Amino acid sequence: MNLPSEIARRRTFGIISHPDAGKTTLTEKLLLFGGAIQKAGAVKSSKIKEHARSDWMEIEKQRGISVATSVMGFNYKDIKINLLDTPGHQDFAEDTYRTLTAVDSVIMVIDCVKGVEMQTEKLMEVCRMRSTPVLCFINKLDREGQDPFDLLDEIEQKLDIKVRPLSWPISMGKTFRGVYSLYEKKLHLFTPSKTTVEEGVEITDINSTELDHLVGENNAAKLRADVELIEGVYPEFDVNEYLAGRVAPVFFGSAVNNFGVKELLDTFIRIAPPPQPRATSLRVVHPEESKFSGFIFKIHANMDPKHRNRIAFIRICSGKFERGNNYYHVRQEKSLRFSNATAFMAQDRETVEEAWPGDIVGIYDTGNLKIGDTLTEGEKTVYTGIPSFSPEIFKEVLNKDAMKTKQLEKGLQQLMEEGVAQLFTFDIGKRKVVGTVGALQFEVIQFRLKHEYSATVEFVPQNIYKACWISSNNPQKLQEFIDSKQRHIARDKEGKLVFMAESKAWLQMVQDNFPEIQFHFTSEFKS
Ligand code: G4P
Repeated sequence: MNLPSEIARRRTFGIISHPDAGKTTLTEKLLLFGGAIQKAGAVKSSKIKEHARSDWMEIEKQRGISVATSVMGFNYKDIKINLLDTPGHQDFAEDTYRTLTAVDSVIMVIDCVKGVEMQTEKLMEVCRMRSTPVLCFINKLDREGQDPFDLLDEIEQKLDIKVRPLSWPISMGKTFRGVYSLYEKKLHLFTPSKTTVEEGVEITDINSTELDHLVGENNAAKLRADVELIEGVYPEFDVNEYLAGRVAPVFFGSAVNNFGVKELLDTFIRIAPPPQPRATSLRVVHPEESKFSGFIFKIHANMDPKHRNRIAFIRICSGKFERGNNYYHVRQEKSLRFSNATAFMAQDRETVEEAWPGDIVGIYDTGNLKIGDTLTEGEKTVYTGIPSFSPEIFKEVLNKDAMKTKQLEKGLQQLMEEGVAQLFTFDIGKRKVVGTVGALQFEVIQFRLKHEYSATVEFVPQNIYKACWISSNNPQKLQEFIDSKQRHIARDKEGKLVFMAESKAWLQMVQDNFPEIQFHFTSEFKS
C-alpha cells in the first residue's frame, strides 16, 4: 500500500457531547457497523468497565467515571476509522481538549430534549480555535424534544456556527415516523429496534401521494412545508464550508434505536476530511511527506497495576511509522527505538508493524515522553497547537511527610507530564500551586501520590481566578511588571512566565494599567 491511498482512506475523529446526550451509545452503534463488536451493550458493559477493572486507576472504579480517553480503530467500507473517545465527565475537560488536537474532525451529539448544554459550548470553543469541521447528530428523536427549527437556531446562537440540516425528522416522540434525507432524497421510516438497520425508501418527489401513504397525510404536509422552509432559509450544503469549520451539517436520529446512525456514518466517510496538514514551529507538515512525524497528545499511567509503566499515545501526522525503527525525540534531542508499539483496534490492543497518518499508536514509556512531544526522522521542529489552557481551580500543594520530599517531587512531575493537572511554581517562596479544570483531579492526584509514590499531600485553596501567560515586546516593561507584581508571578512547567490573577475585575484593571503587557489564556501564543 502506498502513502497517498492510505491517507485517503483514513478518518480520525472524536465524538463530543454533554454527558448523557448519547455519546457512548452512538460510539457503540458505529462499532457495530464496523463489525468491530458483535452485540449492543458491549462498549459500555464490557469495554469501558473491563478496562477500568484491569487498567485504569482504582479511583475511577470507585467512582464509575470513565477517566480514560481511549482509541478505537475499525474498518467500514474500506475506510479505516480512528475514533478517539473522550471522557464525558467535565472535570476531565482538559483531557478532551487535548484529544481534540489529535483529530481531523468531530461529531457532536446533542440531546433533542435538552438542546445545547454547557459542556458542548465549551468543547465547541476548542473546535473553533482550530477550525475543526463539526458534524451534528441530534439524538433521542424517540422522545418529545424541542422543535427542530428551534434546535437549529439554538446551535447557531450558542455554538456560534452556521448549520445546514441534511436530514429532517417527521414528528417526534411517540409519533416519531422517521427522517427524510435532504441529501439523498430518501425516506427512512422509524421502527423502534436496537438491532435492525432501516433501509431507506427513495422518494424522488416529495409531492407524490406515495409520501402520504407512507407517513400519513398530516405528516406528509408538514414535511413538505418544512422542506420548503429549509430550502428557502438555508443555503445549499457546501462541503468546503463544512471542511473549513464554518458550517455544521446536521442529522437527526435515535442512537439507542440504531436509527439515523448508518446514514450519519455513510455521509461522514464521504465528507469528513482525511488526515490534514499540521503546523509545526518551522513549517506546515503534510501527511504525504515520506518521512514519519507525529506528536504525543495523551499519556496513560497504570496500564498494568503491577508495573509503574505508562503508555504514550502518538498521533501520526506524516509518513509511515514502522515498529522497531529509531525516531528522533526533538525535545530531548535524542534518538529512541520504538520496538513495542501498539495499535488500538476496537476490542484489542495489538502489536503494530506499521501505521499511517491519522493512526494512533501507543508506545510503552518509561518516562521519556511528555504531552506535546514531537517525534520525527531527524527534523528539529515541533508540532504546535497543543496548548495548555488556564485552569479554573487552584490549590497549593503542602507536603505532609518531609521524609518523602523526593517522591513527592517525582510524583508531581510525572503526573503533570501525564497532563492530569498543571503545576505553577511561584517566584516568591517557590510555592507550588496545582491548577485543574475540575475538583475531582485533586482527589485523583492525592490518591495517586499516596498509592504510587507514598507521598502524602494536602491541598490549600487559593484565591486565583485565572493563570495568564504574559509576554511583551518591551523587555524593560516586562521586567517592571514582574517587579511590581512579584507576589503573583509564577512559572509553568516549561518555565514560561505566568501572572496569577485574583479576580476578573482586578485582571481588567491590571490589563488597563499595563498596556504594553500581553495577557494570554493559553500557553501557546504568538509573541
Ligand atoms: P453519554 O455517553 O453521552 O453520557 O450518554 P450514553 O450513551 O450513556 O446515553 C445516556 C442515556 O441516554 C442512556 O440511558 C442511553 O440508553 C440513553 N439514550 C441514548 N440514545 C438514546 C435515544 O436515541 N433515545 C433514548 N430515548 N435514549 C437514548 P441510561 O438509562 O442512562 O443507560 P442505559 O441503562 O440505557 O444504558
